[in-house]
Amino acid sequence: MTRIAAPASVDATRALLAGEHYLADRNLAVVLFLSLKLGRPLFLEGDAGVGKTEVANVLSRALGRRLIRLQCYEGLDVSSAVYEWNYLRQVLEVRLAEASNDTDTRAALTSEVFDPRFLIKRPLLQALEPHAEGPPVLLIDEIDRADEPFEAFLLEMLADFQVSIPELGTVRALEPPIVILTSNRTREVHDALKRRCLYHWLGYPDAARELAIVRARAPEASEALAREIVRFVQLLRERKLFKAPGIAESLEWARAVVALGEHALSVTVVDETLGVLLKYEEDLHGVRNELPALMTAMTSQGLGA
Ligand SMILES: Nc1ncnc2c1ncn2[C@@H]1O[C@H](COP(=O)(O)OP(=O)(O)O)[C@@H](O)[C@H]1O
Ligand SMILES: [Mg+2]
Repeated sequence: MTRIAAPASVDATRALLAGEHYLADRNLAVVLFLSLKLGRPLFLEGDAGVGKTEVANVLSRALGRRLIRLQCYEGLDVSSAVYEWNYLRQVLEVRLAEASNDTDTRAALTSEVFDPRFLIKRPLLQALEPHAEGPPVLLIDEIDRADEPFEAFLLEMLADFQVSIPELGTVRALEPPIVILTSNRTREVHDALKRRCLYHWLGYPDAARELAIVRARAPEASEALAREIVRFVQLLRERKLFKAPGIAESLEWARAVVALGEHALSVTVVDETLGVLLKYEEDLHGVRNELPALMTAMTSQGLGA
């Protein structure tokens, strides 16, 4: 199987992403290029909906690599993240051996219950295995949701890309996976973990890039509508909101307006669809109160690019 080569330059990295309709600014392309080139994990931090997870999706598609995703949550432990023994099958095996009168079978039992065929491989172990198409993309998503002991474990694993299974020995990656970690920054992730990685803060895009993204990902919206959507969303982000809309929300909003058969934003359309954009009652309430002023600002403001 021929491998798709990693991009040879920053521009090539940007083009690779653009080929999958992911429009990155230069800073992101630089850090991603370096992460691939130097074989270092990439730590992406930023608000929800700014395109962190999508970097891993797009990279796996563009490079033709398998995507292995570990979604983090409170209480995530080694048995869900790395491996687990299939206890039920082990017990069955023991029962079968016990039923046999053959002493050799019984003797072989202890070694055989820890046979690799009883091992359930979870994402981190899968990511260390060889893959014909090249090292997979390992997405460790929303690490800020996991607890600190898990972070410490991860730190060790990312240091030498190996895990030890007491009953079997050490599993080591011949070629390290491409690792992307994301955090929504609901808490600070430990410095030590960040230091293992290349770090990038993913902010909201400027209006020109967001327009390009909406045009690429929601082509059903006309250019005029896309412009209005982007202007309005960018205005909202300047306000003090409990949760500002991300790129994901801009795209959803464009699709929602089109789905209603509308071609432009009016006070009524915005009012009816605001729940696609804002998910907190306080935000909805505040914005609804100022809708006429916001609409005026939207129509009077150019897009700057
Ligand atoms: N730079 C971008 N180019 C194209 N689409 C983007 C970009 N950033 C975000 N998106 C879109 O926004 C959606 C949400 O992004 P996602 O990666 O889930 O956000 P996060 O993980 O930061 O919460 C993606 O599915 C994608 O469609
Ligand atoms: Mg995400």
